[in-house]
Amino acid sequence: MKFADRLNRLGTETAFAVAATATEWVAKGNEVFPFHLGDLNLPTPENISAAMHRAVSEGKTGYCPNAGITPLRAALAQSLGKQRNVLFTPENIAVQPGGKPVIGKFLRSVMNPGDEVLYPNPGFPIYESQIEFNDGIAVAYRYLDTPNGFQIDLDYLESKITPKTKALIINDQQNPLAAEMTDAEREKLANLANTYNLWVLSDEAYFDIRYAGESKSIVSLPGMQDRTVILYTFSKKFAMTGWRLGAAIGPKEIVDRISRLNTNEESCTAQFVQWAGVEAINGDQSGAHELVRVLKTRRDATIAGIQTVSGMRVHTPNSAFYVFPEVSETMARTGHDDLTRFALDALHNSGMSFCTRRHFGRPVIDEKGNYIRLAYSGIDSSQIDKGLSRLAEWVNSK
Ligand SMILES: Cc1ncc(COP(=O)(O)O)c(C=O)c1O
Repeated sequence: MKFADRLNRLGTETAFAVAATATEWVAKGNEVFPFHLGDLNLPTPENISAAMHRAVSEGKTGYCPNAGITPLRAALAQSLGKQRNVLFTPENIAVQPGGKPVIGKFLRSVMNPGDEVLYPNPGFPIYESQIEFNDGIAVAYRYLDTPNGFQIDLDYLESKITPKTKALIINDQQNPLAAEMTDAEREKLANLANTYNLWVLSDEAYFDIRYAGESKSIVSLPGMQDRTVILYTFSKKFAMTGWRLGAAIGPKEIVDRISRLNTNEESCTAQFVQWAGVEAINGDQSGAHELVRVLKTRRDATIAGIQTVSGMRVHTPNSAFYVFPEVSETMARTGHDDLTRFALDALHNSGMSFCTRRHFGRPVIDEKGNYIRLAYSGIDSSQIDKGLSRLAEWVNSK
């Protein structure tokens, strides 16, 4: 028996493999400090859970419109439009079971076989996977590690645009770098999209996870509303990763196509989950605010802990819940020249479990440095302190 060839082009989230290795190490009786998965160990706010229970008991358990229930589409249009200073209506919203499905549905709506799509690398690994699975050519753009943090190498990105380039994927408040665009970077990207007539997927999964400053969206810039689809998700902002609720937000013409894909793939997103989403957007926001407060404490603990580990260099991000330290000196000190081996030895010697740069897309040619990603969303501050002091003990004793 043979399987379909197209599956060979489908990637995966290899972070889940790191989780499996960590689980094995726990099963052998060891303590593990889980910095590997971008999940939250914090509860969904009570008012949101109560709204879901209410919807179930009211019988809101059947099929519903493919693009989502109107109250949720209206709530999202109003709230996101206000935050981003653009006018959205319910027709601009296609509700999804999570943020992730937006990626493949966006690509299938705009990309023909052989079209090129620019995507961030290191970046969320599903971009590369979905571009290639859907017969496109994945063209990576890269970041520069500057004293002001990670910045997109804009000259490099522009040099990769060809007549076949169809779309640009951007992810401000970036995973895994926690990089953020400056106004100038965002404006330059908007200029490129307008000049070369590109569709834009703006992955805004971490837009509201912010400790200082203000999030901005490329959709607010001139000419962008007609060519931008926003990936919106409830997963991170409201600690709802397992609920699977998100939305594609963009021009009606593309939202209609995405909704047709909904019809073919899921019919609709669970109706009672959507009613919980209405409460999340329109109801009391104190749960979401508390979540950001806790995450900020964890960010501070993570940065402080990293600074005690010899040879690690890290930027302090103001958004998302990741840090991406450079560890070349730490590796040299502990006798490593291979990043994967370093991560495994760190687990075995300190219990610290984390992903490395290799989990976030195929490395770009000529890439410099060795980086790891610590996600501090799924681990309490006291465990952050303990894990990083164990890591420091191991590294600093060498
Ligand atoms: C950058 C980015 N985009 C999208 C997603 C998908 O989120 P969801 O859980 O809503 O599918 C994630 C999840 O980790 C992410 O990090």
